Amino acid sequence: MTGEQRRITVGVIGAGAIAEHCHLAGYAREKEVEIAALADIDPQRGAALAEKFAVPATYTDWRELVARPDLDAVSICTPNYLHAEMAIAAAEAGKHILCEKPMALTLAEAVSMKEAADRAGVKLMVGLTHRFLTFNQKGKELIEGGAIGRPLIIRSRFAHDGPYSSKYARTDWFFHQEQAGGGALLDMGVHAIDLMRWFLGDITSVTGTIGNVKKQIPLEDTALATFTFQSGALGYMEVGWSSLTGVLGVEVYGTEGTLVIDYTTPLKLYTEKGERLTGSKGWIYPVGIGGGGWEAEMAHFVECLRKDQPPRTGAAEGIEGLRVALAIYESAATGRRVEL
Ligand SMILES: NC(=O)c1ccc[n+]([C@@H]2O[C@H](COP(=O)([O-])OP(=O)(O)OC[C@H]3O[C@@H](n4cnc5c(N)ncnc54)[C@H](O)[C@@H]3O)[C@@H](O)[C@H]2O)c1
Repeated sequence: MTGEQRRITVGVIGAGAIAEHCHLAGYAREKEVEIAALADIDPQRGAALAEKFAVPATYTDWRELVARPDLDAVSICTPNYLHAEMAIAAAEAGKHILCEKPMALTLAEAVSMKEAADRAGVKLMVGLTHRFLTFNQKGKELIEGGAIGRPLIIRSRFAHDGPYSSKYARTDWFFHQEQAGGGALLDMGVHAIDLMRWFLGDITSVTGTIGNVKKQIPLEDTALATFTFQSGALGYMEVGWSSLTGVLGVEVYGTEGTLVIDYTTPLKLYTEKGERLTGSKGWIYPVGIGGGGWEAEMAHFVECLRKDQPPRTGAAEGIEGLRVALAIYESAATGRRVEL
């Protein structure tokens, strides 16, 4: 792809919730991006979103969309078990790809996706949205700038009541092992793990516990994990589909201070020099609650296409996060710490 002003033509596979609120909405906001095609096995869902976003062509067979020679890129917004097959076919057809998280169900699949993209010379970005939230970007900048000294401990918690089809997702695939590959850990945990890796670097070992504390479903509604990092830091995580509300965010405790990123309040930095910088003194950094996210993620993908740059959340990030999540499942099943 060359030239900043070149028109980009995209197709979207899957016309569910994430397609509507993130991908289609994101492409629609971008100038010189044309959403030319939309595919969904459910023709009514496809037609409804095609009408909403003025997409001229719809398909019930995603392969017909991928075969279109005019598409520069495709978004993959389908249940997890379809990501690998669709991404590999799209890469082989020469399309750049923005694939939803988790990248795939297995490491072998995820690696095959990366290899297919590398062979074809196309970009493969994974929808690891939390890196694009403005307060997380500020947090990364503060950590890298030494604001809290050497990070020692990281804690993250992401939970809600679950992706019920009546409330969020359009279908109930999230609750089926063969389609989702896992429950709250694979759904929410990959975001938490990616953020923790981004902030503190490589994870070297994990322990995990999964369970159903609330829902009568065949997949875990809650997952807990502990981490050791290459740097010597330690971390822990709780993710779930089992709480109606509560803390969402990440805390990092360092030798010189503490960073608290609660997604519902201003970002806070506490330093050991006696200053206590909190929301009571006003916002210490001009970062909005909830800013960035899906909108910034979509803008980044389009920018990468225009400028021919590698995406910040590429296949390697998708693979490494998945590796950690699968290791947590292994630890939960065996009762042992898993080295990575
Ligand atoms: N990045 C994020 O913040 C975020 C948030 C929510 C969901 N997701 C991810 O997005 C993906 C989709 O989730 P969702 O919430 O939109 O689910 P959803 O159930 O709302 O939508 C899935 C859509 O895929 C369609 N589909 C199923 N099989 C298909 C096929 N063979 N060909 C074409 N279309 C097919 C379904 O008919 C449905 O319309 C998942 O991988 C999920 O983990 C990411």
